[in-house]
Amino acid sequence: MENIKAFDKYCQNTASKEDMTTYYDSWSSKYDQDLDAAGYRGPSMIAKALAELYPDTRENVHILDVASGTGLVGEQLAKQGFLLIDALDPSQGMIDKAKSKGVYKGMICAYFDEKELDIKAGSYDAITIVGACSAKHLTCGCLMEAVRLIKPGGFFLMSTRPLSLQSVEDKEPFETRMENIEKEGKWKCIRKEIVPRYLDKNDGVIFIYQIA
Ligand SMILES: C[S@@+](CC[C@H](N)C(=O)[O-])C[C@H]1O[C@@H](n2cnc3c(N)ncnc32)[C@H](O)[C@@H]1O
Repeated sequence: MENIKAFDKYCQNTASKEDMTTYYDSWSSKYDQDLDAAGYRGPSMIAKALAELYPDTRENVHILDVASGTGLVGEQLAKQGFLLIDALDPSQGMIDKAKSKGVYKGMICAYFDEKELDIKAGSYDAITIVGACSAKHLTCGCLMEAVRLIKPGGFFLMSTRPLSLQSVEDKEPFETRMENIEKEGKWKCIRKEIVPRYLDKNDGVIFIYQIA
């Protein structure tokens, strides 16, 4: 857990998202080893949650794994039979590591924020975001871009540690923004669950929204 504690401290103290990206570039070669040692179960929990939504055919489900990192989520999705997965991450180091795993079709090196990506609306059946809602990572602005990219009836799955979620610096809390999008009728919460032993002894929280 020492490297995870150092990481948490860095997130609180670092000046910018660009510094964060440089941090990930240099962490990419040791990230999997450190997270494995810390008992990180977020990727397998989200892959299982998505698999439950598609009990029959999974190979044609088009997924965008936002903040894909080194591809831990992609690997778990592939184990569940999902074959059509794109990765998006701003760190070239993390993207290169993810690419080497051979589980992603497309690789996009970019930030996910309020800016529209050069991707057609409704391109994806599902978006996954695991472990990326914390200080100097994703902000609420990205949520409407997620809504735009997911097909009607498709799913938005997000998980993180509750403490990380509270550390997102933005105009309104991340969870409040998600609830407000539901009040606007753009999506509906179909699952919110605190899950034990998400990372070491820490709980995690899983959110699933279905697009209207
Ligand atoms: C803790 S890692 C999680 C990686 C992977 N999802 C996992 O669970 O192992 C956070 C990732 O979020 C990415 N990230 C940070 N800010 C981002 C942003 N604004 N848009 C997209 N990805 C971002 C980082 O580059 C990093 O790879």
